[in-house]
Amino acid sequence: MNHEETDHDNVQCVILAAGQGTRMKSDRPKVLHQIAGKPMVQYAIEAAASIGARRPIVVIGHGAEQVQNAIGDRADTVLQSPQLGTGHALLQARAKIDPAAETVLVLYGDTPFLSAETIRRLLDSHLAAQSVLSLITFTPGDPALYGRIVRDAGGRVVDIVEYKEATPEQRAIREVNSGIFCYQTRWLLSQLDRLQPRAGHGEYYLTDLVSLAAQDKARTATCSCDEAEVLGINDRAQLAAAERLMRETINTRLMLSGVTLIDPAHTYIEAGVTIGPDSLIYPGTHLRGKTAIGRACTIGPNAMVEDSTIGDRVEIVASLIEGATIEDDVDIGPFSHLRRGAHLCTGVHIGNFAEVKDSTLGPGTKQGHFSYLGNAAIGANVNIGAGTITCNYDGQRKHPTTIGDNTFIGSDTLLVAPVNIGHDAQTGAGAVVTHDVADHELVYGVPARPAKRATRNE
Ligand code: UD1
Ligand code: CA
Repeated sequence: MNHEETDHDNVQCVILAAGQGTRMKSDRPKVLHQIAGKPMVQYAIEAAASIGARRPIVVIGHGAEQVQNAIGDRADTVLQSPQLGTGHALLQARAKIDPAAETVLVLYGDTPFLSAETIRRLLDSHLAAQSVLSLITFTPGDPALYGRIVRDAGGRVVDIVEYKEATPEQRAIREVNSGIFCYQTRWLLSQLDRLQPRAGHGEYYLTDLVSLAAQDKARTATCSCDEAEVLGINDRAQLAAAERLMRETINTRLMLSGVTLIDPAHTYIEAGVTIGPDSLIYPGTHLRGKTAIGRACTIGPNAMVEDSTIGDRVEIVASLIEGATIEDDVDIGPFSHLRRGAHLCTGVHIGNFAEVKDSTLGPGTKQGHFSYLGNAAIGANVNIGAGTITCNYDGQRKHPTTIGDNTFIGSDTLLVAPVNIGHDAQTGAGAVVTHDVADHELVYGVPARPAKRATRNE
């Protein structure tokens, strides 16, 4: 079996996400601030899943209800209240840790760049060394407030000292604690009770397990990683930097998979978006949510597409597309708005200032100029004239409009729903259609009435 694919199903992951995140200056819990459209805590949950670990346990506290709602059933949660430090957080999770799981992995809810590869390296070196405790350290440009890694003459880690408690000599240490740990479960469960609260503020430091292990001469191991992977997000400036980094990661992946981005720095694509090869994305484009875009499309400039499925060879210029399904060879824009439930079949043309909601437009249908279609089922090769409006709302309820294949809706037609227009029919310019129109019938006027000419010549 490929080593990379080994599942770590004996690993119980605990994600610490209860902290307040004071420096965000926000009513929203820190771990729910989004990066590339995903709440931060979601990255940790996905990291656990990506190595095949057991369903994670998330320690929640600050804004617990909101965090719980965002997590849904993707993880178990335990409440930490009050929040008395990282050691206290893991103590709250203890009862949920299955003693039969070989390894406990601790991740943070505010460290979204940690890769599966790095977690695997930590677990591999941990198991190979038969350690009771292993951790990821790194050597940042500025060690700032991170916990300092203290090693003995033999290079063994003997302590982690928080910046505010460190001596000047210790503050000079460049190697710091990422906070990402793994433990032999049996050892961890037997040692957690040894953690003592700090005098004064009463916090329990998870990092104290390092010196306890060292005192017992138990085996420990470290592995290192790039600063970029363990960046913690603490304030809005770091959040923006993280957003930029994540954007670069996503955009690079897409470009290497065959998508052209004219200006990646100004192209905003969320983590859950897929795009087929030979598609071309112009700047000022935002692709969000669960959006899938096919091959050889041209999107932008200044398009926003959210939660939509787009086929192949589709062109979208400066338009807003939300919750829509768009088949192949459609062109849209500039300045149109497709809303939830818009379904455009193959070859549809949408021009400017068109709005479509909860409506299907059949193959080859054209809606070229300022007009509104709502709650409508429209056949193939229909022409929607400029200024057409489905009057679908009577102030209380929405009503449907249907239009058959090959029908020609004249400019400025008002379709007062509920109303059915047959196939190969025609409405005259300015018609106010209050009654159904038969196949091949031409209606015009206010209110619209059938013309003497019964059949539209095509
Ligand atoms: C911690 C480490 C420090 C390390 C740094 C890396 C300790 C004592 N210190 O410091 O050595 O360099 O992370 O970023 O462990 N949390 C809870 N409950 C709490 C407190 C925190 O769940 O009571 C969670 C937070 O939501 C966060 C994580 O634990 O996801 C880290 O907490 P934070 O307060 O940011 O720790 P640091 O002081 O940065
Ligand atoms: Ca932190």
